[in-house]
Amino acid sequence: MSEKFYLTTAIDYVNGAPHIGHAYEKILSDVIIRHKRQLLDNVFFLTGTDEHGIKIQKTAASKGISPKEFCDENFSKFESAWKELEISYDKIIRTTDEQHKRTVQKIFSKMLQKGDIYKHSYTGLYCSGCESFLNPKDLTEDGLCPDHLVKPEEVTEENYFFKLSKYKDKIAEYIKSHSDFIIPSSRVNELLNQLENIEDISVSRTKASVQWGINVVEDDSQTIYVWIDALSNYITAIGYDIDNPDELFKSLWPVDVHVIGKDIIKFHSIYWIGILMSLEIPLPKSIFAHGWITINQSKMSKSIGNVISPHDVIKSFNLENPDAFRYYMASAAQLGKDGNYSDEEFKEKVNADLANNIGNLLNRTLNMAVKYFDGEIKPEFVTDSKCKIAIMAENTKNQIKDAFNKFEIAEAASYIVTFADSVNKYVTENAPWTLAKEGKTDECAKVIYNVLESMRHIAIMLYPYCPNISTDILKQLSSEIDFKYDNLYWGGLKTGKIVQKDNIKPVFLRLDSDFAENKKKGQ
Ligand code: MSP
Repeated sequence: MSEKFYLTTAIDYVNGAPHIGHAYEKILSDVIIRHKRQLLDNVFFLTGTDEHGIKIQKTAASKGISPKEFCDENFSKFESAWKELEISYDKIIRTTDEQHKRTVQKIFSKMLQKGDIYKHSYTGLYCSGCESFLNPKDLTEDGLCPDHLVKPEEVTEENYFFKLSKYKDKIAEYIKSHSDFIIPSSRVNELLNQLENIEDISVSRTKASVQWGINVVEDDSQTIYVWIDALSNYITAIGYDIDNPDELFKSLWPVDVHVIGKDIIKFHSIYWIGILMSLEIPLPKSIFAHGWITINQSKMSKSIGNVISPHDVIKSFNLENPDAFRYYMASAAQLGKDGNYSDEEFKEKVNADLANNIGNLLNRTLNMAVKYFDGEIKPEFVTDSKCKIAIMAENTKNQIKDAFNKFEIAEAASYIVTFADSVNKYVTENAPWTLAKEGKTDECAKVIYNVLESMRHIAIMLYPYCPNISTDILKQLSSEIDFKYDNLYWGGLKTGKIVQKDNIKPVFLRLDSDFAENKKKGQ
């Protein structure tokens, strides 16, 4: 069977509209998946929304609408944001989908029958922001929830509990023996420490406290809450069923990577693994925990009033497509580290890399191809795949593949830029305009060929980040629009009259350039 790749993102709470933190994760995931599609045929990308819980129930009530109406309203905001960002998911699951709800009930029943879920009276400190009970050890010095800075309520309830402690040793063993499981690996120790103190977790709430959720079939007084519901989306979406899973599930599971934020790594690498062990389903291959995006170095928050949506950025810069924003976000942070968004940094970064480095290089060289050779690449212009530039292109391709295998998405982008830098230097050093003036036509033709063939490589390598710019580059080179890595070989550039003067146009306009400014003003 051919190799497959299945990627999931966290499912977003639909209590509001998507912001650039949510967008960051979906862009990272989309870049990974587009890269995988360049290499493999069987690739599946799942994203979704998390729609149950007390917060949604309360907000909907305060607006005088039903929770489902409230979810529908916000779901469509996520859906259109992902469309605007060209997030190429194969499926978007909602936890209110009927099939999801039915399967979650079966999962709960199976764990109950097995004795892994039991009923128990519990008194704990409940934070409605987190929608979970907090461990007193995790509170701030003032006894507040560290994430929401509010005092958790003391709540006594009879709930169902999952015997997570039963799987504690096996989970630790799995984490320790799979060095590629937790990415970045710097988080492993913190997780193993948390695992040492792990207790059984509450997996239901009384209907009196939470109604908006999936019913426990065996007990009318209870609602399944948060983690069994939310985490199970990764299997219900692809047709998992206790007795008779779909072909899709059989072909995709175990998942290759769960892409999530660093704040929910415990739920994925401990709770979810315990649930899967209880269900006797194979375990995920890796969990990639990305860092958080700050705005001008501050945490994004409604109370500070600095929450930005991806649409705000696209609109304020009047971007024709999401490429620049995608590129910036995907390059915003090194593996697992936090990143930052600011308008200034955004402008600087995309002007430097996309307009100056890559865009100008293409534009200048296409114009030279027209000026000196009437846009024609003759077969004798084609250079040897052992030449310096060809070797650099090959090395860059390998570096990128390697980086993607380690989920180093920003790093992979930087290799493209470094390669484009080197090609720019090569042009300066070889001065094709001087060669042309001196009548050294053959040498000049080879330089032009090397640059245009490099540009074709850059287009393919840049595609996961900037699908529109990459398409434009290939069009201007009269290349087939096919981004498969199979096309990354030296000599793939077509020969003949491939450059048409009228087709040459900047693939990315400097933000703030006169042209861009005029466009903004609609001139
Ligand atoms: N619903 C849960 C996830 C359940 S997964 C089975 C949740 N939702 S969330 O809407 O709060 O967050 C969704 C994702 O966005 C999480 O991975 C979270 O880490 C990420 N981010 C939320 N704010 C973020 C930033 N400011 N920066 C980067 N990612 C952020 O958690």
